[in-house]
Amino acid sequence: MSDVDLSNLSWDEWDERINPPPAVTDFDRVVETAISRRGFLGGLLVFGSGAAALGTGLLSPSAALASTSRFAFKPIPIATDGTVHVPEGYTWKPLAKWGQPLFSGVSDLDHATGGDLASSDKVFGENTDGMEAFLVGGRQVIAINHEYVNEKVNLPKNEKGMPTSADDVVKLQNLQGVTVMEIAEGDDGWSIVLDSPYNRRIHHRTPMKLTGPAAGHDLVKTDLDPTGMEVLGTLNNCGSGKTPWGTYLTCEENFNGYFGSTVADAKLPGDYKRYGIAAEGRYAYEKFDERFDVSKHPNEPRRHGYVVEIDPSKPDSTPLKHTALGRIKHENAACVVARDGRVVVYMGDDERGEFLYRWVSNGVYVPGGDTSTLLVDGTLSVAKFAEDGNGEWLALTPESTGMSAAEIAVFTRMAASKVGATTMDRPEWVAVSPVAAEAYCCLTNNSRRGTLTDDGKPRGNAGGDVMAVGGPNPRAKNEYGQIVRWYPADEDHTAGGFKWDLYVMAGNPVVHKDAYAGSGNINEGNMFNSPDGMMIDSTGLIWIQTDGEDTNEGEFAGQGNNQMLAGDPATGRIERFLTGPKGSEVTGLTWSADRRTMFVGIQHPDAPFPDGEGKLPRSTVIAIKRDDNALVG
Ligand code: FEO
Ligand code: CA
Ligand code: CA
Ligand code: CA
Repeated sequence: MSDVDLSNLSWDEWDERINPPPAVTDFDRVVETAISRRGFLGGLLVFGSGAAALGTGLLSPSAALASTSRFAFKPIPIATDGTVHVPEGYTWKPLAKWGQPLFSGVSDLDHATGGDLASSDKVFGENTDGMEAFLVGGRQVIAINHEYVNEKVNLPKNEKGMPTSADDVVKLQNLQGVTVMEIAEGDDGWSIVLDSPYNRRIHHRTPMKLTGPAAGHDLVKTDLDPTGMEVLGTLNNCGSGKTPWGTYLTCEENFNGYFGSTVADAKLPGDYKRYGIAAEGRYAYEKFDERFDVSKHPNEPRRHGYVVEIDPSKPDSTPLKHTALGRIKHENAACVVARDGRVVVYMGDDERGEFLYRWVSNGVYVPGGDTSTLLVDGTLSVAKFAEDGNGEWLALTPESTGMSAAEIAVFTRMAASKVGATTMDRPEWVAVSPVAAEAYCCLTNNSRRGTLTDDGKPRGNAGGDVMAVGGPNPRAKNEYGQIVRWYPADEDHTAGGFKWDLYVMAGNPVVHKDAYAGSGNINEGNMFNSPDGMMIDSTGLIWIQTDGEDTNEGEFAGQGNNQMLAGDPATGRIERFLTGPKGSEVTGLTWSADRRTMFVGIQHPDAPFPDGEGKLPRSTVIAIKRDDNALVG
């Protein structure tokens, strides 16, 4: 193990260690290219329809922004402090903090120890992320991801928070995964219903079944599971999705970091590099839990990186890992039922230069009917964007890739490279509008786009697909990110083609006057970087959450802590609604059944949030209401 403090690394920094960036970059070239893109962007940035549409020139931002506001709040300024801020007339309260009991007889978090092993699978987990709310027999049940751990907080007595025993590893495994819990609103606001029959923790050792083309295949068989059908655990649960039939989708993102080799010079399989699986594990799991030691169990990592379906209404049900939806670093899974009843799921693969995917079921969704094949039988495609504002979905089939269906399911990134998909600036959440035939994807940032390798070649993703500047990824060394929007042909989400534009390019108009200033709907008052989480509410407003640099200095001066903003797709206008505590990421959003409360996730604060000085920082889901109890989305 190296002497680097791994617990302080972001996932980006972790990836950089495995695949280091070039020492030399052709900065002049990339900046020049970015500036020359501005004219192109002027034609493609569309603020709504009609007069603002393509071909009429870029709508003057001031004209667009002067139109009637749909925002039911007064925008708030940036913050740099250690707590949450929301607009006047709104109030927030914690709903659930990591270490908070789901069952009676379990104590609340011990701030000295970070909680004990025995209670670690009976409490709300760490690093809250994607979440979805369900109405089950009139009761409000919420399913919430716990993406990863903050070792120094979870194991505060250990040096650098690193596990030193099998018990430490089990405790960390228990704190991740998914919580399903019932919640209720009382006189004091929302709270967890202790001992509800729906309360459940799913973690890194929970049994689940594989479905789809890879299930039972040799690629996923291990000594512990010679059938290749039964997997333990779901790893690095990032964004979420909700099926039309009322199940929860949890998305496995940076699963690679949990694996390592106890044999330092072990020869690793060739497919590991594309997924960033390395001999050095991030959490030392491999030292204490043999399943994560790739020198002994090389197929185990191929059993992770999928979308997992959980039925929150059946606490005893076995989660399903759907291999048909591909093995990537899944961000979220945005579902929509197409006009003909087929189920469409949009998914981003969050790594620099990876791709945007779409699943279309073979069967159709019939309310109350059999839904068991809708995420098993169908076609996975990947997006290719053309410079002219058109795009197409390229099907990943044995014919198009030369790979078997099982290989496509397990080595999805390689299949997508074969068909020439467009390398993207880290696709994070996709959101589908409920009021218009359009969808959006946050492209959070990509500091390596348009750069050169040490030997002067254009830099690519881990598969060698070049990250050229252009299309929906128009800026080299993109530190700010953008949101791409697409309109399926014939307003049909199963169509082969689409039109696209950029809804927003984040930037800093105070620091920059070029393309890095951002698009016309970015100004000194609403600027942000690194859009990540995203949901569209029932009225069509886009809620954008950020996971970026919160130094408030240099390139990021004036942008403050991470935040949540609301965007009006009709006018392009974007306003700041919430600021998170220092060091935190704002991620995960859902609403109560009556839409009078929004639940927002605050992940990994640095400040002692929300319990105050002397306490450990706690990732927390907060409930936000209007003081007049009006609708909030
Ligand atoms: Fe877990 Fe890409 O965010
Ligand atoms: Ca995210
Ligand atoms: Ca992110
Ligand atoms: Ca995160």
